[in-house]
Amino acid sequence: MALLKILHFPDPRLRTQAKPVQKVDKAIQSLVANLFETMYQVPGVGLAATQVNIHKQIIVIDISEERNQPLCLINPKILASEGTQRTEEGCLSVPDIFEKIERSERITVQALNEKGESLTLTANEILSVCIQHEIDHLKGKLFVDYLSSLKRQRISKKLLNKQRKAA
Ligand code: NI
Repeated sequence: MALLKILHFPDPRLRTQAKPVQKVDKAIQSLVANLFETMYQVPGVGLAATQVNIHKQIIVIDISEERNQPLCLINPKILASEGTQRTEEGCLSVPDIFEKIERSERITVQALNEKGESLTLTANEILSVCIQHEIDHLKGKLFVDYLSSLKRQRISKKLLNKQRKAA
């Protein structure tokens, strides 16, 4: 297993559209294992392949406190959504920034798991937010896109300054 390098906003590579996975083979399973390892290491509650510059439709999530409920969704599609909720979100690609974002309250998602089996799940609350956030990554979208452009520019400047200092 290996830790993967996470891209940071405003890196343009985060805007890439991920391609569907054709076959869940050993290479994909090894990538999934690395995504989990990277997410647990940081630590974070979700990670999309896009964030490590791999443009395949794969997300990994674990919202449990014990960090023992890994969820992998490959080629995820939202079949239905209802209601709205507004919760504070952060992102491993937008470090130290937290903002309230409006999302659907409940979603039904269809995807493949890491074994290539089809699954359908209905999610509420944090899990629903997390899945919507990660699916956005696969479309090249970030949570800061829901903010005003002024706010987004401020965040971009702040992070670029930080990246310059760290370099
Ligand atoms: Ni994110």
